[in-house]
This record gives sequence, structure tokens and C-alpha cells, in this order.
Amino acid sequence: MAEISAPKGVRDILPGESWKWAHVFRVMQETARHFGYSEVHLPLFEHTELFSRGIGDTTDVVEKEMYTFLDKGDRSITLRPEATASMVRAYLEHRMGTLPQPVKMWCAGPMFRYERPQKGRYRQFWQVDFESLGAASPYADVEIIAISLELFRRLGLGRLEVVINSVGCPECRPEYRKRLTEYFASRRDQLCETCLARLERNPLRILDCKQESCRAVTEAAPDVYDSLCGECRDHFDTVKDGLDALGASYRLDKRLVRGLDYYTKTAYEILSGELGSQNAVCGGGRYDNLAEAIGGHHVPGVGFAAGVDRILMVMEQQECSFGPVPSVDVFAVALDDASRRNVLQLVNMLRRNSIVAEMDLGGKSMKAQMKAASSRGARFACILGENERAGGTVTVKDLATAEQRELPLSSLVAELHNKLTSTREG
Ligand code: HAM
Repeated sequence: MAEISAPKGVRDILPGESWKWAHVFRVMQETARHFGYSEVHLPLFEHTELFSRGIGDTTDVVEKEMYTFLDKGDRSITLRPEATASMVRAYLEHRMGTLPQPVKMWCAGPMFRYERPQKGRYRQFWQVDFESLGAASPYADVEIIAISLELFRRLGLGRLEVVINSVGCPECRPEYRKRLTEYFASRRDQLCETCLARLERNPLRILDCKQESCRAVTEAAPDVYDSLCGECRDHFDTVKDGLDALGASYRLDKRLVRGLDYYTKTAYEILSGELGSQNAVCGGGRYDNLAEAIGGHHVPGVGFAAGVDRILMVMEQQECSFGPVPSVDVFAVALDDASRRNVLQLVNMLRRNSIVAEMDLGGKSMKAQMKAASSRGARFACILGENERAGGTVTVKDLATAEQRELPLSSLVAELHNKLTSTREG
């Protein structure tokens, strides 16, 4: 029978990598805490309607990329392509409007999009998602951008570019949409097939097209800033001023429209030159009408999501630190069969005292156990035989220097802690 491999676009995160992911999540957790965000765990699948109404029917995500199926009760279910719609659903469903506002929540987990897999683009990928719900103030937008920047700073990511824009609101967008449609309609012949279809349904998305010919047309497209209403303009000015106050540099890009339809006012992305064409490590913005779009009351909100797979790619390329490499402190070795029971107890005692301890589980000879100790990269071998058992001692061999000492069992933990701390600090 043929071997079964993982489906296209998904990947396994194996031990050689998973400890690095754990470091990234630890940093995220700490950062969230310092900004007053609480972690939530939301379902991996939702009613399809949540996304079609929330993200927008004419977006690529909803039109082409969702994993949608009927469950056994004939309900249309979709694996979440993103977390924002679920966050807002949870806020509404659990009546969080009655809590002190804004409600600041974050989550991390896999998202699913049926996209063409390529470098930095997967069909199952991880996001960390931060949302500030119930906050209409532009300072909430600034805080959101500040969290993403602080997260990347703590992870050691460099050479990032923040790109921001305002996409207006239902008040001023229709006018902008009209101006765009007129502009693009008179240049139909220069637009690609996809953009011709977008012209009627979602002309703003043309601004985002990566095709050479479309980019040339969008260069001189009407400027969104000329169409913003007073409120959107003031909001955007305060966001920019807040970023200036924090010393955050950013580039304005009137063509940044993002791939999801719920955005109002602020939209932003953080780009890395290290990622090739899939260069966004993070994207987000304000979505003041999303709650209503999914059937709730008015809840202003702003948030971002960062791609964890991409963060790790950049960290690897920039040789960022992932914290201490996991290592084995002690490998316990039984000199004879009679000592195996004592080795089991020794290892148990060391682990209880926060020492990373391993032992042979397969009845190996003493020589093979010593070999296993060095192949596991253990710092010390703790050897137990007849003499040690009789004297209540352990022979500790430093595997780096081959130095060997017999120590009373009673002082072993303290001695090991001393040695391990000085090695780690050294
Ligand atoms: P998004 O721009 O679609 O926004 O995704 C956010 C980030 O997820 C991207 O910048 C990228 O790093 C990562 N990402 C997206 N698709 C893939 C993929 N196929 N493979 C690997 N990484 C990927 C959102 O999802 C919004 N919900 C963000 C948001 C939160 N807006 C407001 N609040």
C-alpha cells in the first residue's frame, strides 16, 4: 500500500522546530499580558454565514478559499479562515458589551485557506490575533499597531516596514468607490481579467492587484485621502500623530486596501523584505461595522493578526534568538540490572526537582547507555551500580570534561543545580 503523506499546503511542526514556536508563543503571551489582553480559545469551525457575511461575499477568501462542508445535520460549516469574525461573534454571543469597554482579547491557532501553496503561504497556517472591541477611539488603533511592533521587537525581528492607510467608512466610501469605478472604467483595456470582474463588484480591490499592467494604472488612481469625510480624516490624523508620538515609523500607502471587506478607517500591514512575494508578517485595521454585518448591535473594533509561520521564517533568516536550546541535563545509567529500579527512582527525583533527566527504557548495556547519554547531548551521566547503592551515593560524570566524582545522594540535586546554573550563565 502506498504511504500516506500530509495534504498539500499543510505541514508538521516537528521537535527540531516546535521549541522555537514555543518561544514565540511565550513572548506573545507576555506581550499580551503587558498590554492588558486576555487569551481566549475559539472554535476552529463556525457557521459558514459568519464568514460570508463578516468577511464579504466578493472577497477571495469567501469566494475561493474557504474549506466549507455540510455536517451530518446538513448545516454548512467552514473551517475558520481568520479569527476576527469569530472574536466579534463571541463578544456578541457572550454579551460582552455589558463589561467595561474595550474588551481586549487575543488568541492563537491554526487558520485554513484554500490558497495556492508557496513560500510563506500554506493552507493551514497559524495566526496570533489581537482584537480591541468596543473602542471607537483612534488611540485603540495606535495601541493595536504598537502591540504588533512590540511583539516583533521582543522577538528580535528587524528590517520591517509599517504601511498604513485609511479606507474610509460607509459615509465616504461610496463616493470614493464611484470615483474609482469611473477612473478604472475609462482604462478597462489596461486591466487584467480578474480586475475587470472586480470593477463592478469591488473596485477597491483593483488597487491591490499585483499584475504589472494594473499596478501602472493604479499608480495614478484617485487618492482615497481626497474622499475621506471629516471624521475619517480626523481619525487618521490622530492615528498618525499617535504613531509619531511613539516614534514608530510608517509609510502611507493609498493603495493598501487589504483582502477582507470589513475594514473601515485604519488599515495597516507590516512587511518584511525577507519573505519574497508573501511579505506581510501582520495585517489589521478597524472594522466598525463588522458586528452589525453578522447580525449584532454596533460595536466598533480594531485588531490585527500576525502569521506565526512567517514570523518564524523571518526569525530564522535574521538569526534571531529562540532562547535556550532544549537540552538534557542528566542521563542516568544503571551499571547492572539490579540498579535499574534505583535509576528509575533517581530520574523521578531529579525531574521533580526541575532537572531534565533521561534514562534508558530498553534494557541496554552500560556501554550502550553511556553512548545514549552522549548522543542525547546530556551534560552529566549519573551512574548507579552496586557500590553506589550500598553507599547511598551516585557517580556523576561530566560528559564535557570526562571528570568523575562520587557524591552522596542527599546533596546531588543541590550540586547539579549549582553546576547547571554556572554552565548556563557561563
Ligand atoms: P490577513 O491579512 O488575511 O488578516 O492575515 C494576517 C496575517 O496572516 C498575514 O499578514 C500573514 O502573515 C498571515 N497569513 C495569511 N494567510 C496566510 C497563509 N495562507 N499562509 C501563511 N500565513 C498567512 C486577517 O486575517 C485579519 N483577520 C486580521 C485582522 C484582525 N484584522 C483585524 N483584526
